[in-house]
Amino acid sequence: MPLVNMKDMLDHAHANGYAVGAFDLVSLDFLDGILQGAENRRAPVILSLAESHFGYFDFRNIMPAVVAAARRSPIPVAIHLDHGASLDSAVRAINLGCNGIMVDTSNAPLETNIRLTREIVNMARGCGIPVEGELGYVPGVEGEDAERHPGEIAYTTVEEAERFVAETGVDFLAVSIGTVHGHMRGEPVLDFQRLAEINQTLGIPLVIHGGTGLSDEQFRRLIDNGVAKINYYTALADAAGEVIRNHAQDGARGYTALVSGIGDAIRAEVERCIDLWGGTGRADAVLEQAQPWRNLEHVIIYNVEGLDEADTHAMMAEGRRVLSAIPGVLEVVTAQALKEDAAYRYAWLVRFCHPAVVDSYRDHPDHVAFADRRFRPVAGKRISIDYQDVEDSCS
Ligand code: 13P
Repeated sequence: MPLVNMKDMLDHAHANGYAVGAFDLVSLDFLDGILQGAENRRAPVILSLAESHFGYFDFRNIMPAVVAAARRSPIPVAIHLDHGASLDSAVRAINLGCNGIMVDTSNAPLETNIRLTREIVNMARGCGIPVEGELGYVPGVEGEDAERHPGEIAYTTVEEAERFVAETGVDFLAVSIGTVHGHMRGEPVLDFQRLAEINQTLGIPLVIHGGTGLSDEQFRRLIDNGVAKINYYTALADAAGEVIRNHAQDGARGYTALVSGIGDAIRAEVERCIDLWGGTGRADAVLEQAQPWRNLEHVIIYNVEGLDEADTHAMMAEGRRVLSAIPGVLEVVTAQALKEDAAYRYAWLVRFCHPAVVDSYRDHPDHVAFADRRFRPVAGKRISIDYQDVEDSCS
C-alpha cells in the first residue's frame, strides 16, 4: 500500500515535528533518484509535478511511470500536482493519478484567490483528494533565478490566512514568509514570528515553497513552526546539471554518457534533505497511520436492446469520451463478451481514483446526461457493482 493519502501523511509530519520533501521531478532520472533516496532513508516522500515544467516532458506519458513506481515502492508516497494553472489542470492531474493537488491562484486578489481555490476544493473533495492552497506571493519559478520572475514578496498575514482556510477548506497552506523559487539573490531573511503566529492560529500543516538555498538552521526553525511539506527543486536540477557539465568537461559526447549518474546525484541530495528535515525512519509509522490509496472499480455488465452492434460501439465510444473527463475517473474500459451467447454481452469498467468518486460521479451532470439519454434506455438488463481494489503492495 505504498501510495497513501497525502493528508494522513502530512498530518503525521505536522504532529511529529518533521517535514516531508515534495521534490519536483522532470524526468525518469529524477523519479528514480528521489524514490531511491527516500527508500534508503525509510522516509515518506511526495513526488511532485509542476505545471511550469510541462514543456519539458509529456505529463500524460510520465504519469503511468510515476504511479507504477509509487505503487511498487515500500515507503509511503503521494503524487502531487504542483502549481497547477486551472481547474481543468487539476481535473487532468487527478485523472492521471495525482492524489494531492495545488492550483496556484496566489497572484490574484484575495477574493479571487478564495473563490478559485474553493472551486478546486469542491471538485477535489468529490474525489477524496486533499488540496494545498497558497496565500501571499512567493516570486520566481522553480529552477530559474527569481530575478527573472520578479514581483515583490507578498507576505501572508495571519488574518487573511485564517479567513482563507475557513472559506476555502484547504487541507494545507503554502505561506509566503520570505522564500523565493529558484536561486536566491543574497541571504534569504525569513519572518519566523509571522510563521509561528500563522501556525498557532491555523493548526494545519504548512508548506514552504522555494526550499533551495535555505540554511540548515532555517529549515529547523521552519519545521519547529508548523512546516510539514517543503517544496524543493532547483538544487536537484543544479546537481543534475553539474553531473552533465563534469561529463562534458571529461570529453563525453553522447547522451547516455552525459546523463549517467544523474539519479545518484539526485538521490544524494534527497537523502541529505530527508535527514535534515527529520523524515529518516518515519516510513513505518506513516504506513501504520495513513490510509492506503486504493482505487475503486465500477463494473457494469449489460445487454443491449434496440441498437445494432455498430450503434452499440458508437454509444460505448461516446461513453469513453464523456465519462473519462469526469473528475476522479482514471480509466474507462468498454468490452464485449467473446461468446455471442454470454449471459451479459457487454461490460463497462470505470476506474475511480477513490471511493468518494462513487457519489460525485453518479451526480455529475455529464454522467447523468449520458446515462439517461444514451445508456439506460437501451441497457435494461444490467448488473452494476463497485469493487474496492485489494492489491496492497509491491508487485
Ligand atoms: P526551489 O526550486 O526554490 O527549491 O522551489 C521549489 C518549489 O517551491 C516548487 O513548488
